[in-house]
Amino acid sequence: MGYIEVNDLVFEYPNGNRALDQINLEIDRGESVAIIGQNGAGKTTLVKMLNGLLKPSEGEVIIDHWNTKDYTTAKLAKKVGYVFQNPDDQIFHSNVYDEIAFAPKTAGIAEDLIEERVLEVARVSGLSEYLDDNPYDLPYSIRKFVAIASILALDSDVVVLDEPTAGQDKRGIQVIEKVINYLIDKNKSVITITHDMEFTVRNFDRIIVMAHKNKIAEGTPAEIFWKFDILADAKLMQPYTSRVAKEVGMEDKIINIEGFSNALKNEQLQIPESGEGK
Ligand SMILES: Nc1ncnc2c1ncn2[C@@H]1O[C@H](COP(=O)(O)OP(=O)(O)OP(=O)(O)O)[C@@H](O)[C@H]1O
Ligand SMILES: [Mg+2]
Repeated sequence: MGYIEVNDLVFEYPNGNRALDQINLEIDRGESVAIIGQNGAGKTTLVKMLNGLLKPSEGEVIIDHWNTKDYTTAKLAKKVGYVFQNPDDQIFHSNVYDEIAFAPKTAGIAEDLIEERVLEVARVSGLSEYLDDNPYDLPYSIRKFVAIASILALDSDVVVLDEPTAGQDKRGIQVIEKVINYLIDKNKSVITITHDMEFTVRNFDRIIVMAHKNKIAEGTPAEIFWKFDILADAKLMQPYTSRVAKEVGMEDKIINIEGFSNALKNEQLQIPESGEGK
């Protein structure tokens, strides 16, 4: 049994819009999973159901043996922390320290441990120099890290990041990758929604592809990014290196520069020495 189990899940918004239609999936402790798919595929709706922000219309979501319908989001937060797509939906304190300290304070953790935890997650999230600032005086890209750090401070078993790379420059993306590695090292599960295929290849062991209000495929990056029918159906592009590999007729399921370079070296070994065969 997976740590997270989603069984025949249906979700309809109050206006009758069906955003998820009979979806099934499982996620274990320590897994890094990317959820990809076009706008409106239901990705955010799905992850909001993992911490009980939304409850099933039909079917069930089980988190570590808990059925989300029986628990509040506050209770589920110890198991699943969700970083909102838009940080402004999440931030409500007037300085960064208090924002990050809020979750452990609410959980009744001792003051000195709270400080230790805030300083640690601030360091991992690149926020050490901003602790006294008002989040709304900071740029969007940094506010996103304030939202991330405040969820890291929960110390939940699962962390869900909803489009963390949106609006981030190269340094910001590197910090996000550091956060993901930090979590995986602690045997947390990381579930990330993203439209960035290169970022997906670099950081995730498993991909869940969503389209038509459902999961249409799952597998490793090498499997998914060479399934052209799935990519077309979900309106996704291959990562850049895979596109080049396909263009030049390489048959291996290449997804990154290392794979491309290895394939090139192997092919070169088979190229006849100059002069041979003339
Ligand atoms: N509050 C709401 N009320 C009604 N329909 C909604 C609501 N929020 C989202 N939807 C609809 O549900 C569907 C799934 O939306 P969702 O936000 O889960 O998609 P997404 O895959 O996260 O998209 P994106 O990549 O744009 O973030 C869409 O058709 C969307 O318009
Ligand atoms: Mg979304």
